[in-house]
Amino acid sequence: MISKKMENMVANSSAIRAMFEEGNRLAGIYGAENVYDFSLGNPNVPAPEAVKEAIRELLDEENPVVLHGYTNSNAGYEDVRQAIAESLNNRFGTYFASKNITMTVGAAGGLNVILKSLLNPGDEVIAFAPYFGEYRSYTNNYDGVLVEISPDTATFQPKLDEFEAKITSKTKAVIVNTPNNPTGVVYSEETIQKMAAIMEAKQKEYQTDIYLVSDEPYRELAYDGVEVPYLTKYYANTVVGYSYSKSLSLPGERIGYLVIPDEAADSEKLIGAANVATRILGFVNAPTLQQKVVKKCLNEKTDISYYNRNRETLYNGLKELGFECIKPEGAFYLFVKSPVADEKEFCAAAKKYNVLIVPGSSFACPGYVRLAYCVSYETIVNSLPKFAELAAEYR
Ligand SMILES: Cc1ncc(COP(=O)(O)O)c(C=O)c1O
Repeated sequence: MISKKMENMVANSSAIRAMFEEGNRLAGIYGAENVYDFSLGNPNVPAPEAVKEAIRELLDEENPVVLHGYTNSNAGYEDVRQAIAESLNNRFGTYFASKNITMTVGAAGGLNVILKSLLNPGDEVIAFAPYFGEYRSYTNNYDGVLVEISPDTATFQPKLDEFEAKITSKTKAVIVNTPNNPTGVVYSEETIQKMAAIMEAKQKEYQTDIYLVSDEPYRELAYDGVEVPYLTKYYANTVVGYSYSKSLSLPGERIGYLVIPDEAADSEKLIGAANVATRILGFVNAPTLQQKVVKKCLNEKTDISYYNRNRETLYNGLKELGFECIKPEGAFYLFVKSPVADEKEFCAAAKKYNVLIVPGSSFACPGYVRLAYCVSYETIVNSLPKFAELAAEYR
């Protein structure tokens, strides 16, 4: 018998993954070019050429025993962490050192490490709907309780009044994700300042530490020159979880890092806990070859112009067909209002045209659907007539 906890997890298993599998099934029947699969946030822009060169160089130059060995510290190679700290300091005017960086198995690994380090059973973790559904599972992994802030569907910016009202003496962490999956919204500096002021006041009121966890896999994917504030500069108790999955198109390589600044409450203990959590969660250390690769590619970025063209074409195309959605400023998702209240019904209707989209209830925001536009440009262009037929059903 599997555990009760896992029974529930399996029963509520990811609708996104299920949709992706459905896409593969349909591609087998109709041919991949006749399936419009917007289900998964799997980058379709190849990793920069520099990644390939870095891997080749490393295999030629480095001592294989070191390159493929366990790292001395579970936090990762010292030189890699130092290089990342310096790169962040140059970009954002911060003062990090290697000790402030813990290499992780992607952002997902980083979130698990930090929640394992912070949560006692019953501690509350706040997330703003719509949010990446895995936050619920990650919180549940450590017997935390996810507290949801309802969505502001006019702007998809965080509802700060509700946020303030829902912080309690048990609130241990607040997760923000900007640029956001699934809306593509970027939180403005003003929003972050207001959020920080609320959290400062609540820490004083309850005499507790409330950590802001900034989940940043999409930091480099911001369009039209929009600024994505670096959150450690606004609130001392901030931990950043970064990932190269989308910024370098390396999702399968599982590489990212946590930043735990000196200013964070109990920083030294928290860094030590993250180190141990990395080990005891079974990651042991982040993949070593990839640690060295990202060190060599710190100034590389994915080709954002590719996603931007998709964004413009899909957004304009759907708006012309009468669909309601806000224009994403970052990431590679479009969050579209379902023409019927039950968005699962809309997803099922879309499937008749081989169009695969994900229900907003997977992100705690029913009535909407998510389209991941990290697909080929042809898929976008060829899907629009299908969306037109779909729209016609609802006129
Ligand atoms: C908001 C968000 N956080 C975390 C992750 C996990 O990313 P990683 O591949 O870095 O573990 C994803 C992946 O899609 C995501 O969208």
